[in-house]
Amino acid sequence: TASTLDAALDLIAEIPDFPEPGVLFRDLTPLFGDAEAFAAVIDALGAAVGHDVDRLVAVEARGFVLAAALGYARRLGVALVRKPGKLPNVAGRVDYALEYGQATLELPVGSVREGQRVAIVDDVLATGGTVAATAELVRSAGAVITGVSVVLELADLGARKRLPGLPVHALRTV
Ligand code: PRP
Ligand code: HPA
Repeated sequence: TASTLDAALDLIAEIPDFPEPGVLFRDLTPLFGDAEAFAAVIDALGAAVGHDVDRLVAVEARGFVLAAALGYARRLGVALVRKPGKLPNVAGRVDYALEYGQATLELPVGSVREGQRVAIVDDVLATGGTVAATAELVRSAGAVITGVSVVLELADLGARKRLPGLPVHALRTV
C-alpha cells in the first residue's frame, strides 16, 4: 500500500557532510535492512518499470541489489554495468562526472541485445551522470531505454535536464 511504501522511504537516513563537506548523503542502509520496506520498494519499482520491458540494467553497487530482486520478481534478466577494470569483455566504456568526483562505467559484452527494451534501475538519482552514462552505453549497444526507475531523486541536482526524452519514475523526490 501507499503508506507501507511511505514508511519504507521514511527509513532513508540523511547524513550531513558525507562523503565530503556540504554534501547531504541519503543512506538507504536502513531500508535495505528492513524486509517489509525492501519488499515494498521492489514492488513499487516493478510498477514504475511497467510491462513493456525485456531487460533491466543496473549500475554497481546498490543498483545491483534492487535490479536483482526486481529481475527475480518480474522474471527479467539483468545487465550489470560495472565500475572500470572488472570485466573481461567490454562492449562500451564511458567517463562521466559525479556529484563528488569522476567515474567510468563499462557495459559487459552480450549484456544487452540490439532492439531490446531496457529499463534502468538505481537507488539514487543525483546529478543524473550515472544514468546518462548508462543510457549512452545501452544505446550504443543498439538497445532502447524505456525509462529510468529510482528509489530517490534529489531534484536540486537537476538530473532530469540531463536526461531529455527519458521518462523518469522516482518513488520519492526530495
Ligand atoms: C551512487 C548511486 C547512483 C549514483 C547517483 O552510486 O547509487 O548510482 O551515485 O549519482 P549521479 O546521479 O550524480 O550520477 P555510487 O557511485 O556512490 O556507487 P555505489 O552504489 O557503489 O555506492
Ligand atoms: N546517496 C546515495 N547515493 C548518492 C547520493 C546520495 O546522497 N548522491 C549521489 N549518489
